[in-house]
Amino acid sequence: MSEIPNIEELAERAAAELARVADKQALDSFKSRWLGRKGELSQILRGLKDLAPEKRREVGALANQTREKLQAAFEECKAGLKREKSVAAELDYTLPGRTIPRGGVHVLTRVTDEIVRIFYGMGFEVVDGPEIETDYYNFTALNFPPDHPARDMQDTFFLDGDYLLRTHTSPVQIRLFEKRRPPVRILAPGRSYRNEAINARSFCMFHQVEGFYAAPDVSFADLKGVLVAFAEQFFGTEAKLRFRPSFFPFTEPSTEVDLSCLLCGGAGCQLCKYEGWLEILGAGMIDPEVFRAVNYDPERITGFAFGMGIERIAMMKYRIDDIRLFFENDLRFLAQF
Ligand code: DAH
Repeated sequence: MSEIPNIEELAERAAAELARVADKQALDSFKSRWLGRKGELSQILRGLKDLAPEKRREVGALANQTREKLQAAFEECKAGLKREKSVAAELDYTLPGRTIPRGGVHVLTRVTDEIVRIFYGMGFEVVDGPEIETDYYNFTALNFPPDHPARDMQDTFFLDGDYLLRTHTSPVQIRLFEKRRPPVRILAPGRSYRNEAINARSFCMFHQVEGFYAAPDVSFADLKGVLVAFAEQFFGTEAKLRFRPSFFPFTEPSTEVDLSCLLCGGAGCQLCKYEGWLEILGAGMIDPEVFRAVNYDPERITGFAFGMGIERIAMMKYRIDDIRLFFENDLRFLAQF
């Protein structure tokens, strides 16, 4: 009587070998070893006749079942290898990979950083101020008369109580003067808000840079020197500035400053509307009333201040014709900078 073969152990060995099959050659040798006529299973089936009759049935059934299972696993493995091969055939390994797009710094941030860098080089310190302000800091302390049109509902976003969204960065002057004694030389970039109709030239939110210097004996010539040095560094040495008399409640005298047109150099073109000049900022000598509001002695302390719109400067530098482009987050626009 023959020994009873261990078919379960055989099935395990076969499955382990199939799991390692990775190519056609290994698959072929698996096939002949386990499913071929000379394979172990075939030998067992051939040897059934030597078993005791009561075992013959049991072992025969198990051997046949195992054979079917191995056959199915073999077919699956074969199909898997075929699939891998066809995917590999379709891949073009010479194609360049897909690059991950890189983010960039927003053009307004770039322009702000550049402005800050230039004034920092002239000894200006950078500070921040709140965007939610009170009437006192935004208007009263800056010498706006109570009935001044700038307080009008049309310009100002009023919030609950005494609060409003600052309409300019000038209130940072007051906040800083309250905290510090002169000399102070400060640059304050940040957002401002105005309730204006939105169009190509104005938006309800925009950015300004406020600059101011208060100390004994600060003069209008200092203001001019600082602004000319800035324009030459930012726009180039051919840039010329023109100072026009103007009015702001918080400066006296006040001036609006124009830059010679970057496109035509002053001859007149579409960009400058045939004026030859582009307005870039407001400025002036800090009004004694402002100094009184913060307990500086206007007999002893003088100062200058200026404020410029960052969008406006960026639009000039990069010839951008619509302010809304800055805030629409269209990558076709943003990726150009
Ligand atoms: N705050 C002014 C505005 O928003 C700009 C300005 C003008 C700021 C003259 C100044 C200045 O500091 O001296 O239109």
